[in-house]
Amino acid sequence: MELKFYILFPTRIASAIQFASILLYPRIVTLSWISRQYTAPEKLGSFLDGAEKIKTRPVLNLSLFVISLRPRYFFQMNILFIGDIFGRPGRNAVTALLPKLKAEFSIDFVVANAENMRHGKGVTIANIAEMQAAGVDFFTSGNHVFKDSSVVEKMDDPAFPLLRPSNYPKGAPGHGYRLVSAPKGKKVLVMNLMGRVFMTADLDCPFREADAILRAHEGHDYDAIFVDFHAEATSEIAALGHYLDGRVSAFIGTHSHVPTADARILNGGTAFQTDVGMVGPLDSVIGAEKQLVIDHFITQMPLKIEVACGPCVFNGVKIEIDPQTKMAKSILPIQRIVD
Ligand SMILES: [Fe+2]
Ligand SMILES: [Fe+2]
Repeated sequence: MELKFYILFPTRIASAIQFASILLYPRIVTLSWISRQYTAPEKLGSFLDGAEKIKTRPVLNLSLFVISLRPRYFFQMNILFIGDIFGRPGRNAVTALLPKLKAEFSIDFVVANAENMRHGKGVTIANIAEMQAAGVDFFTSGNHVFKDSSVVEKMDDPAFPLLRPSNYPKGAPGHGYRLVSAPKGKKVLVMNLMGRVFMTADLDCPFREADAILRAHEGHDYDAIFVDFHAEATSEIAALGHYLDGRVSAFIGTHSHVPTADARILNGGTAFQTDVGMVGPLDSVIGAEKQLVIDHFITQMPLKIEVACGPCVFNGVKIEIDPQTKMAKSILPIQRIVD
């Protein structure tokens, strides 16, 4: 998006503004001006000496400025990332709370982790549509994303707003990153990666995969890079977060369903949190009916997942992006209880 402003100023003021603009707002794409001198006739001499002469003298110097700029460079962007949405209670909590949070925190762009939206495991096309209607713009996922076959078929569609971790081996369906259009003309590169420590899938290296994605987007026009790192081991999450510090705007962990108390801006300007937590039933084992999980641990029999009920905890994080540096200005964990 580009806006053009036409401004008329006396030339001296216009010149000063032009220099100040170049210094203060380097994101102005073009700054041009047309100067016009208006003159008035002036008599020299008189009729008596027979030497009347007419000469023009300057009365007004005007400059017409054409300032062409991309306003998205001037507007900061607030991203809300919502942790793993667990089953119907989680989806209902998002529907109930999200419109209020978007207004309260001036949220421009909402990303949510979708891997548990289908009864605690997986995600369906209908789940995605339901959460889009609630206000979520784009979705990341994790190890449960391939559970529903209908969504797997849809994942190669570049218009379908769901990523799977990018470091799945070549040939896996879907995509692991996308440059997404956000409000205010902004563009966000959303990246989804998965850890390899204590995870069952045999994945490619998330460090090298992140490097490759960033390399592929060098010189591309974007306003922020958001990374959801779906991983179990806090050490692996911290290591990759520091590895990408200063190269991505935000790096947030998912998968444990439990929020960590370490949200902060790293030295290079990247917003970081080891795990954002989930949106799901509070009186549960990470969203699931607790007695079934307790029985599984005691008997070692196969685990049956049932979504728990009762009040839900909503966990998300707001990240404020600096439009000039594309790094984070602030990070704010948001936790609410929804009855
Ligand atoms: Fe999850
Ligand atoms: Fe997971």
